[in-house]
Amino acid sequence: MVAEHSPKKLFSVTLRVWRQASTKEAGRFVDYPSSNVSPDMSFLELLDVLNDELTIKGEEPIAFAHDCREGICGTCSCTINGKPHGPGKGIATCQTYMRSFQEGDVIVVEPFRATAFPIIKDLVTERAAFDKIQQAGGFISVRTGAAPDANSIPVPKEDADLAMDAAQCIGCGACVAACKNASAMLFVAAKVSHLGLMPQGQPERDRRVLAMVSTMDSLGFGSCTNQYECSAVCPKTISHDFIARLNRDYVSALIKTTFKPTSNAGAGGAG
Ligand code: FES
Repeated sequence: MVAEHSPKKLFSVTLRVWRQASTKEAGRFVDYPSSNVSPDMSFLELLDVLNDELTIKGEEPIAFAHDCREGICGTCSCTINGKPHGPGKGIATCQTYMRSFQEGDVIVVEPFRATAFPIIKDLVTERAAFDKIQQAGGFISVRTGAAPDANSIPVPKEDADLAMDAAQCIGCGACVAACKNASAMLFVAAKVSHLGLMPQGQPERDRRVLAMVSTMDSLGFGSCTNQYECSAVCPKTISHDFIARLNRDYVSALIKTTFKPTSNAGAGGAG
């Protein structure tokens, strides 16, 4: 629930922030009282102000990742009061405003926790595992140098809409951080679905799903046990229905690969 504030009324909170100097060192929570907090400040602006104060005092500023600050890039990943991206629904940390909190609140801020996302420093985690999954199959093969007319391949409206829903995934990792198994199924489902729904994504469809799932499994992500915490915290509200689609695609590709007819030498097949 969003707290009520008059636009000008400043208030005080305490930020309880996870501080960890590096991957190898132990971390701990440190309290930072903050006064003169405007309800119109974004959460990241409060961290900016706190970091200015720490720098002036000669202390190490809090490391946190950010880029677009408008919910597009997926880098501002941290957990606020136990929820990836904080209290709001369908928004990223950078879109969280201090009006979501009350006078005197202790706000616990920590990095995303998952074996596959090691902590680099403070609130910053290494999420290259997502890049590796993407590299395993999250692409289509196209001839470059002569772009085809965008309208030359008709796409049914329902497929285009569903593909766009899946393509909203910003790869922030909130789905993994929220899942008790640290499963990456919602991320993989979104990537597999948005390409698999389009005609351009068909040539690699089976190879893609098998490679992306196998890479996901090899990188330390857990299995999906239908908790649906992933879609509950997704800043793009991507539906867990895409996980069902991923499972169907995976089984279909597995069957086709397992029972692929062998070539007949007499027929002159290329094998
Ligand atoms: S900084 Fe880009 S999504 Fe938050």
